Amino acid sequence: MTKKRAVQIVPSLLACDLARMGEEIETVKSAGISWVSVDVMDGHFVPNLSFGPDHVRMAKKYGLTVDCHLMVHEPETIVPWFIKAGADIITFHIEAAKDAKSLARQIRESGKKVGIALKPQTPAEKVLPLLSEIDLALVMTVDPGFGGAHFMKEMRPKISMLRRAIDSGNFDCWIQADGGINPQTILLAAEAGADSLVAGTAIFGQENPAQAARNLKEQVKDK
Ligand code: DX5
Repeated sequence: MTKKRAVQIVPSLLACDLARMGEEIETVKSAGISWVSVDVMDGHFVPNLSFGPDHVRMAKKYGLTVDCHLMVHEPETIVPWFIKAGADIITFHIEAAKDAKSLARQIRESGKKVGIALKPQTPAEKVLPLLSEIDLALVMTVDPGFGGAHFMKEMRPKISMLRRAIDSGNFDCWIQADGGINPQTILLAAEAGADSLVAGTAIFGQENPAQAARNLKEQVKDK
């Protein structure tokens, strides 16, 4: 069995006050957050446009782990930009990659950690053969593209299947749940087996984001 790791709360910068992104990162850092997520959207793979490599470069100034979730077509073309920008983890969608194994190896060879993301309708089986090649499997618990959507409870069996596969194969791989994570849904994701939980609205959409982050951490501290 892989060593049980502490469940991580990962604020999604998509939901932060973009005019004060640096302050917002400092705020969650003050709450003990060590990992933030930058959602990259190209307006084709998902119907939204968001961040680029310069946002990663800026976020890295605050000393946190920065993961980039590439919701883009042809991720091969822009992965080098995010390697250069200093991303710590680069996650691409299996639905978008021409050759997921080769791209995962390219990212790892660059010294970065690599994740593969699955849209809700993509079965976990698609990523099982690649667990030895990746450091993180991202299960989207909303249709990708926007913050503030509702957690899809029907994703729990998919998270649990990955948890069983990772534990039985002793793979060193995070299971990240992303979308609609809030005080009412967080235990559904954690108890299904996710150990990295991305939350945007439930943190930055709150009156006191630092306290909201602390509350989410408290909810999963013994999971
Ligand atoms: C959606 C993004 C999520 C989103 C999470 O495409 O990948 O990270 O920002 O936002 P909330 O937590 O508000 O659902």
